[in-house]
Amino acid sequence: MSLSFPSDFIWGTATAAYQIEGGAREIGRTPSIWDTFSHTPGKVENGDTGDTAADHIHRRAEDVRLMADLGVNAYRFSVSWSRVQPIGRGPAVQRGLDFYRKLVDDLLERGIRPVLTLYHWDLPHDLETAGGWPVRETAFRFAEYARILGDALGDRVDRWVTLNEPWCSAFLGYASGVHAPGRTDPVLALRAAHHLNLGHGLATQALRTVLPRRAQITVCHNAAAVRARSQSPEDLDARRRIDALANRIFTGPMLSGAYPEDLFKDTARITDWSFVKADDAVTIHQPLDWLGINYYTPHLVSAAKDTGADASRRDSHGHAHGEGEKSPWPGAESVTFHQPPGEVTEMGWSVDPTGLYDVLMRYTREAPDVSLVITENGAAYDDKPDAQGAVDDPDRIRFLHGHLSAAHRAMADGADVRGYFLWSLLDNFEWERGYGKRFGAVHVDYETQARTPKSSARWYTRLTETGILPD
Ligand code: NOJ
Repeated sequence: MSLSFPSDFIWGTATAAYQIEGGAREIGRTPSIWDTFSHTPGKVENGDTGDTAADHIHRRAEDVRLMADLGVNAYRFSVSWSRVQPIGRGPAVQRGLDFYRKLVDDLLERGIRPVLTLYHWDLPHDLETAGGWPVRETAFRFAEYARILGDALGDRVDRWVTLNEPWCSAFLGYASGVHAPGRTDPVLALRAAHHLNLGHGLATQALRTVLPRRAQITVCHNAAAVRARSQSPEDLDARRRIDALANRIFTGPMLSGAYPEDLFKDTARITDWSFVKADDAVTIHQPLDWLGINYYTPHLVSAAKDTGADASRRDSHGHAHGEGEKSPWPGAESVTFHQPPGEVTEMGWSVDPTGLYDVLMRYTREAPDVSLVITENGAAYDDKPDAQGAVDDPDRIRFLHGHLSAAHRAMADGADVRGYFLWSLLDNFEWERGYGKRFGAVHVDYETQARTPKSSARWYTRLTETGILPD
């Protein structure tokens, strides 16, 4: 049976600055933590960096045309902080702001609504030198930057995202160190999580003072569907611990104004949390116009000290951690992550749309007044052009179909889902995995920067144009 989506549904696609822009030293830009990290030997597969990426900085108009061909009515992109405020403090660089203004104008001209993410992981390097997210001051710098963007683009952008997946910034950046800045101290990671939360609250307040009333503000959370391998009390407790660190550490203060008590208990031997000041929870607890949900794969955990074949140390992003690498889970290092049975994508992530259904229903229950938008969903496959140059990606079509069906089922069961953003418009720099992992609906030949829409792009166009998900 084909499934019909509401006529005002947001059909979008998403990208992030460091993953597509390139132009790392152009238009006044100074290094971010991802420039420093990717240029450090051994940090990114194949030694890849975002120096050129998909060269979007020079191909803006072409990329907006590609979006128009996809038929999307919204585009979620991020701003490179160090392109508009090179050292993360002080005045903005006009040329940097101009790039984003032109992008937004191109989008609006084609009837594509811009959704602007302020922070998709690329902290100006100078702010990291000053202590990075573990330091309170960074939250205030972030609010200043938010205000600069609000002042500059608030007249034409009415949907704002403060942070993208703060879990990754805090725990992959400062605990396991597989992401920039590559530090490996669990206390720093917990401090970073708090200051990201605080930054979200302060930036939301700053935006509200400069944006028109109609503007909507939110955050994108990598909502982890955490499952226990058995119903034993030990495995259920492992599930609870990971859920606290993956989800509730952010959604607790953001949605309910309080950190979960069990998180404090679980991490008591690591830190006393004295970096959380008296009114911080109030500052973090800003009304959200909707909640952004990024979903890729669920997580299966147990308490067992298990070394079986399906056991691995996986973080909530699904990245595997090799022997000897640091855990991204402060206080829950002993929890074992298992590879769920069944199909996987090129990232090795299990394909399971029921996880998306579960997280949509969870936030429907926990935050009934907040509508939901799926701000990222997609998959990497080993897409290659055939002899005629065409790129056929039936696996991605099946993946998208399965997840959109799950979203539709959640909507039928009461979830207030307003939109869906396919990750990603283009193949791009997949962080520590480099260019080898392709998430795009549009293929990029990195030698020539030629763009070729894959068959999933044509499939998605039919969907955005009709609102009907075929059988
Ligand atoms: C979520 C992140 O926001 C995005 O940057 C990344 O490329 C995708 N996950 C896939 O890993």
